[in-house]
Amino acid sequence: MAKNSTQYVCQGCGAIAPRWLGRCPSCGGWNTLVEETVGKKRSSTTSESRPGRPVSIGEVSEDAAARLPTGIAELDRVLGGGAVLGSVVLVGGDPGVGKSTLLLQALAGLSQRGARALYASGEESVAQVALRARRILGDAAHALGDRLQMVGASDVAEVEDAAKRARPSALVVDSVQVLRSSELESAAGTVSQLREVTARLVDLAKREQIALFLVGHVTKDGALAGPKVLEHLVDVVLAFEGERGNAFRALRASKNRYGSATEVGVFEMAQGGLAEVPNPSELFLAERPAHASGSVVAPVTPQEGGARAVLVEVQALVGSPGLGSGRRTATGIAATRLAMILAVLERKIGFTLTSTDVFANVAGGLSIDEPAIDLPLAIAVASAARDRPCARDLVAFGEIGLAGEVRGVARGSARLGEAASMGFKRAIVPASTAERISANERSGVELIPVRRVDEAIRIALED
Ligand SMILES: Nc1ncnc2c1ncn2[C@@H]1O[C@H](COP(=O)(O)OP(=O)(O)OP(=O)(O)O)[C@@H](O)[C@H]1O
Ligand SMILES: [Mg+2]
Repeated sequence: MAKNSTQYVCQGCGAIAPRWLGRCPSCGGWNTLVEETVGKKRSSTTSESRPGRPVSIGEVSEDAAARLPTGIAELDRVLGGGAVLGSVVLVGGDPGVGKSTLLLQALAGLSQRGARALYASGEESVAQVALRARRILGDAAHALGDRLQMVGASDVAEVEDAAKRARPSALVVDSVQVLRSSELESAAGTVSQLREVTARLVDLAKREQIALFLVGHVTKDGALAGPKVLEHLVDVVLAFEGERGNAFRALRASKNRYGSATEVGVFEMAQGGLAEVPNPSELFLAERPAHASGSVVAPVTPQEGGARAVLVEVQALVGSPGLGSGRRTATGIAATRLAMILAVLERKIGFTLTSTDVFANVAGGLSIDEPAIDLPLAIAVASAARDRPCARDLVAFGEIGLAGEVRGVARGSARLGEAASMGFKRAIVPASTAERISANERSGVELIPVRRVDEAIRIALED
């Protein structure tokens, strides 16, 4: 068997073909054949790959997962307390969102703390990366000495070689899509190359105990480009999000084998790189208009199940009745959620919105997908439709059911605490949530318990 020979394996039925075919001859599936190397079987799990004797759980030392803090608190929190040696973190995000900047800053932070770090770039020249490093670090770049190194690479073997020489404890590969393995014939970025390249890098990280960060591109609809298998191969999957034209960025974990996946880190893109935003509520409410209809402040948990609450401004705009085409536009909120709220307002409360255009937006560019945003969204739409501003000292949160009832949500006291810290005095909350929050968990915020959405709207708009 030739050393470098490859074969094409159907991902549907496992049939093997010697060359690529559009349709699997065995199961008839289209585009299911993927190139793979022959003979060499690489472990696809990230657990210890060396065959060994089983050990009892008490015997395993805990420093198997030693952590290196990057010094960027917002990033460390999302990682679960820092980068873990021997772990692989995949960072996805839209072009230009700041993935390279974030990871370069992370490496700089690690090397400032004494770790050796290597930045392997396949997308940009070493000169471009150095330019960015100088912009971000300024004179501090010299102080790092040879602890922060860079290499340009287009083949995964070059990254392996560079890692052998530099012996880093942290490695960034930017990006996994541009690297290829010469053992496969297919072009960089194809499914087979992605799997091969990632598997080899994961192997490298586990073997050499390197904290590895992979940059991954995302497709138009926001999913990580490449097969789902990439996400299974790595330990942590982070999404870096931000809207074009908006400096604000959010980093979320969608999977974390070394910590909670419910954390969110908030950054702002500035001249000198990404700056941490320790108080995001302040940022999101900074440009809130005074006495405008269609604006409601909502304490939300940006990551479902997350402990952290932030205040966002939910905005709605309702076109002139009868003049629109019934268009619905939602930014930062799922379109289905908006459609559901509008249906409840029409069928249960008596608003007429069918042929009216409705726009809903979470100001600041954060996208929120938790039910607690239902109630503020409904109030914002009602406020816009009636052209009456919502009381200014008020926040609202709660889920809305299809019968127009307001349902309880979790993290009530965290939400109230955040509202109080930004000076809000009153909160419209689901009655069942209010019952569960004791007086000393209310942070001095007056609770207005509601059972139905029309009740909430009446109170908020002071009808
Ligand atoms: N001189 C500068 N001053 C301020 N901001 C800058 C400057 N240069 C670049 N930026 C910001 O950095 C962003 C690019 O960041 P970065 O290259 O880290 O993104 P990326 O996610 O790695 O993009 P790609 O997917 O193209 O590699 C730009 O969109 C811009 O907002
Ligand atoms: Mg980049």
